[in-house]
Amino acid sequence: MLDAEASLTPVLRQDYNDWWGLQSLYPAPIGAASGPISRSVPFQTLRRDQPALEVPGRAEATLTSMEREPVASVSEILASRTGEEMALNDRHLNPQMGRILRTLGFDRVWVGGEGAHLIDSSGERFLDLFGGYGVFAIGRNHPEAVAAVQEVMAARTGNLPQLGVTLLSGVLAEQLLARAPGSVAAMVPANTGTEAVEAAIKIARAATGRSRVLYADHAFHGLTLGSLSINGNAEFRDGFGPLLPGCEAVSFGDLGALRGALAGGDVAAFVVEPVQGKGVNLPPDGYLAGAQRLCRESGALFVCDEVQTGIGRTGRFLALEHWELEPDIVCVAKALSGGLVPIGAALVSRAAFDAVFDGMERAVRHGSTFGGNDLAAAAALATLRVLEREDLVAHAKRMGALLLELTQPFAERFETVTDVRGLGLMWAIEFGPPAAGAARRLWERVESRQPGLFSQLITVPLFHEHRILCQVAGHHMNVIKALPALTIEEADVRRFAAALEQTIEAAERYPRALAGFGLRTGLRAARVRR
Ligand SMILES: Cc1ncc(COP(=O)(O)O)c(C=O)c1O
Repeated sequence: MLDAEASLTPVLRQDYNDWWGLQSLYPAPIGAASGPISRSVPFQTLRRDQPALEVPGRAEATLTSMEREPVASVSEILASRTGEEMALNDRHLNPQMGRILRTLGFDRVWVGGEGAHLIDSSGERFLDLFGGYGVFAIGRNHPEAVAAVQEVMAARTGNLPQLGVTLLSGVLAEQLLARAPGSVAAMVPANTGTEAVEAAIKIARAATGRSRVLYADHAFHGLTLGSLSINGNAEFRDGFGPLLPGCEAVSFGDLGALRGALAGGDVAAFVVEPVQGKGVNLPPDGYLAGAQRLCRESGALFVCDEVQTGIGRTGRFLALEHWELEPDIVCVAKALSGGLVPIGAALVSRAAFDAVFDGMERAVRHGSTFGGNDLAAAAALATLRVLEREDLVAHAKRMGALLLELTQPFAERFETVTDVRGLGLMWAIEFGPPAAGAARRLWERVESRQPGLFSQLITVPLFHEHRILCQVAGHHMNVIKALPALTIEEADVRRFAAALEQTIEAAERYPRALAGFGLRTGLRAARVRR
């Protein structure tokens, strides 16, 4: 789901109604619902024939009566029901997401995707810097990955024998391990990033016989309960407890804190993202190698979560190569299967693997029904082939360097820009309060409603005026992030940098106009859809 970014997951926060404060910027009524969901009725019980959140005459008006008819073919659905996406979402999926999209005016009908672009129903192309939360490393709908999936279907393979093994997942394991550090020697297949992390937590506990798991503050490792227990962001954790016992945060970058937490010799693993996705936080020099050394000394497993950073994203196949790390477990997912088929994998040291799967009766003590399926393996093999043939890792390094070169001067030039950072094509810009004047007043006005809201005043014009889709990098932070396809062309990198410069300049020179633009956009979106 996310980079999770989960960042787009509407989180039920204190007001049960808000997503990074958008409600306070664009007061009700907007979009799908006519007012806040009250604390006393956090969930409504809906009849099947009732639209979600009681929006009279809206959601049901655009739905056809097909839901009770035989299920149509994909081509029939695409031909006859395109345009119903928002209504279907409001009725059956996540109406709060519908509100966010209408508020921002992001409620486009996306009919296609190609390379680094999304295409809407009027044929307009948007530069997609979300990249599906980083899954489209080789670009959307890469023909070779599509063909690989089609080949599997055409071959009618003996997929998922369960009491049996298959060729494609074996070859994928062989190929992935050949590109991973020598410290890992076996692959545990999974279907998502969070599943790969769950596997890492379980394997570390079983292999070491210890239960404590350390993680970094601001970490994001997925949203199932085990991964959530090592999530360093309260916004995701709150309300879901009690979480796994024995999980403990340490400050990212602080070797002293890690040393202290490991001192008891009772820690199973330290799980860390080489570059943190939430905020795009780069590790201080020597931190990751030092962390690995401390883990080794204390008998804890060193786990690198490369779900977001892996598969070329940072200008190396795995980010750990930047620091020559040799982890006990490496988690990969997201971009591995070209964005076409869910996938995940934990690459595990021989010692840890053998300690867990240590007898025939223990051969299936961890796994998942669809783990290692042929479609995912085929898409992943095609992804590895494309990545290497098109030299995308080196291209990502070059484009990332260019993006930094074009945007780092913004920190000098603009009062509101406090930092621009990145590694390869994992890039972020951070905003902070200007010293004085109109820009300061705008900042205070916006931030007093919700910390972290200022950056939405940048993303909204980028979308509407420049056709660029990008994301805020986490809750309560003024950080905008980009995870474009690694295939992004130089012209698009330059276009993004120029559009960003123009938007920040407008924000600082005409703060009222910018706030007004954001407000008008939200209200216009609401009017059109009501
Ligand atoms: C570093 C990291 N680990 C794990 C995950 C969870 O992956 P998934 O959403 O596929 O479960 C994410 C998702 O954004 C991630 O960025």
